[in-house]
Parts: sequence; structure tokens; C-alpha cells
Amino acid sequence: MKYREIWKVYSKVFDLTTLNVLEELKEDKFILEDLSIVSEGKEAVVCRSGDKAIKIYKIMNISYKRQIKYLEADPRIRSFPKTQVGVIYTWVKKEFKNLRKMFKSLISVPAPYVYKKNVLVMEFIGDEEPAPLLHEVIDKLEDKEKVFFDIVEEYRKIYHKARLVHGDFSEYNLLYYKGKIYVIDVSQSIPNYSPAASEYLEKDIENLLFIGNRLGVKLDKLELKRMLNIL
Ligand SMILES: Nc1ncnc2c1ncn2[C@@H]1O[C@H](COP(=O)(O)OP(=O)(O)OP(=O)(O)O)[C@@H](O)[C@H]1O
Ligand SMILES: [Mg+2]
Repeated sequence: MKYREIWKVYSKVFDLTTLNVLEELKEDKFILEDLSIVSEGKEAVVCRSGDKAIKIYKIMNISYKRQIKYLEADPRIRSFPKTQVGVIYTWVKKEFKNLRKMFKSLISVPAPYVYKKNVLVMEFIGDEEPAPLLHEVIDKLEDKEKVFFDIVEEYRKIYHKARLVHGDFSEYNLLYYKGKIYVIDVSQSIPNYSPAASEYLEKDIENLLFIGNRLGVKLDKLELKRMLNIL
């Protein structure tokens, strides 16, 4: 079994529960037998299985304290177990709900399929290769201005239609595929009415201005806020 092979490599971070979750997802036909690794970060490993992307959170991750802070900023979450496992499961559920909310609001995100414990299954963006991050292609883009306005439009929909603030909006959490922008990594997103929302929004707006700069669009914060219809 291919992912048993992968598990051998990752057994330090993946526990037996993760392997069982992958088995169950395979039995339920959400994923195939074949897994390949797309990216490995501090918190999660993203794998590919056919046309699905599988985000597997490490149970023993070092961001646990930070995640508790982010979960406590979300008024939809009333209480959750403060154990490593409890935090991760709550985190994945939150990411899935945010993704579903955005998808239903017609925001360009990978389609969410299912989540189970520390594993989230969504649409894989890319062909043979995963779609590049905006960061990787930003300098080479031809239609820079259009790409920027597409990004602003996605953010406007996140705020007004999904009624969320992304919270980590940057060229590292946007994919660029076939001329289209995809928003990813929505685990930290919170409702736009949360007490902490304005702090998240300010950070995202600064990042949007930075992306604008990189794409040769000069505008100030007020102009951007007008475009986003946030004043
Ligand atoms: N649906 C997807 N389709 C294709 N590639 C994806 C998809 N989701 C994530 N990726 C790839 O995996 C990488 C990590 O995903 P993501 O940004 O969601 O995780 P992360 O929380 O930043 O992980 P960490 O902080 O642990 O690095 C992305 O930068 C992207 O390259
Ligand atoms: Mg990311």
C-alpha cells in the first residue's frame, strides 16, 4: 500500500489514527489508494490523491498555542477540548466549515468534500503538477492588473457574501491556475462580526495593498476599502 510507505516516513508525525482515517476515506471512496506529497509545512502535510487534495494536520504540531488563540477568537466555537487532539479536530472542522461557506458563496476556493478528525479532503487544483502559489508566478504574470482586481473581488465576496475575514490572506495562500485565482488555507478565518475581525481585516488589507504593489497597482488603503465596499 502506497500510503503505508508514506506512513513509514511520517510515522513520527502521523499517528495510527491518521492511518485509519485514510483507510476509512478510501473505503468510502473519497480518496484513492495512491497518495503523493504536495507540500509539508509546520502544521500540515498536503497530499494528492487523484483529483483530491488531502490536508493532514499533524497532531503533535508546534502551533498548538497559537491555534487555541485563533479558535478562541471565533464566536461560532463555544468550547473545545484544550488537548492537542481536541484542538486539531476543532481546527479541521473550522477549516472545513469556512471552506464550505466560501464555496457556497461562489468564492473561488477548492471544492470541499469531507473532513474526518485531522484530515480534510478537497478539490485538487492543478493538472500533473499542483497549481503554483501566486508568489511563484507573480513576477511573470502578463495581465497583472486584471489578476489584482480578481483578487480584490474574491476578498470582497469573502467579506460580504461568506461574511468572513480570511486572516492570512497573502500571495502564499493564493493559487494561480489557468488564469484564475484560488483562495486556500482558510482555517483561521472568522466571521466578519467577531470582536477580532477588524484586527484580521486590517492585516488582510495591508497584505492586499502589498499584493497590489507587487502587481503594479498603486492605490491607498482608503481606495482599496472603497473597492471592497468596507468603510
Ligand atoms: N486544494 C489544493 N490543490 C493544490 N494544492 C494545494 C491545495 N491546498 C493546498 N495546496 C498546496 O499545499 C500547500 C499548503 O497548503 P495550506 O496553505 O492550506 O497549508 P498551511 O496551513 O499553509 O500549511 P503549513 O502552515 O503547515 O505550511 C499550499 O501552499 C499549496 O501549495
Ligand atoms: Mg498556507
